[in-house]
Amino acid sequence: MLTLLFACATVQLPEPNEAMAAATPGITVEELTKGRDLLRVRCGNCHTPPHPRQARTPAWSATFTDMTRRARLTPEEARRIEAYMLAGSAMP
Ligand code: HEC
Repeated sequence: MLTLLFACATVQLPEPNEAMAAATPGITVEELTKGRDLLRVRCGNCHTPPHPRQARTPAWSATFTDMTRRARLTPEEARRIEAYMLAGSAMP
């Protein structure tokens, strides 16, 4: 519970690493880092950016499509953020 409260101030978004990159064929740690940075900046405007584990929930795909519009992401930005979320969601 305490973790949740603190999460509002500072979200612990997983640091991209080789294991995370390996979860998505063809993606590099650098690209995942760009995705993480975009997530912080573009999705953190309105609310705390979601932790990648959110990408495991059934509603994720529809929510993400909705949020890419709200954040006015370019297709490229959306692709990077989604890659980070999906790679992060595959981590234990
Ligand atoms: C313009 C403001 C705005 C931006 C930018 C934004 N969101 Fe949201 N987000 C909201 C609001 C408001 C809600 C509350 C639920 C609703 O209104 O649908 C929400 C809810 C959510 C939820 C929870 C949905 C649920 O039903 O539990 C997730 C996950 C989410 N946003 C992810 C993101 C991601 C990822 C991004 C960046 C691509 C993003 N949001 C950018 C306004 C925003």
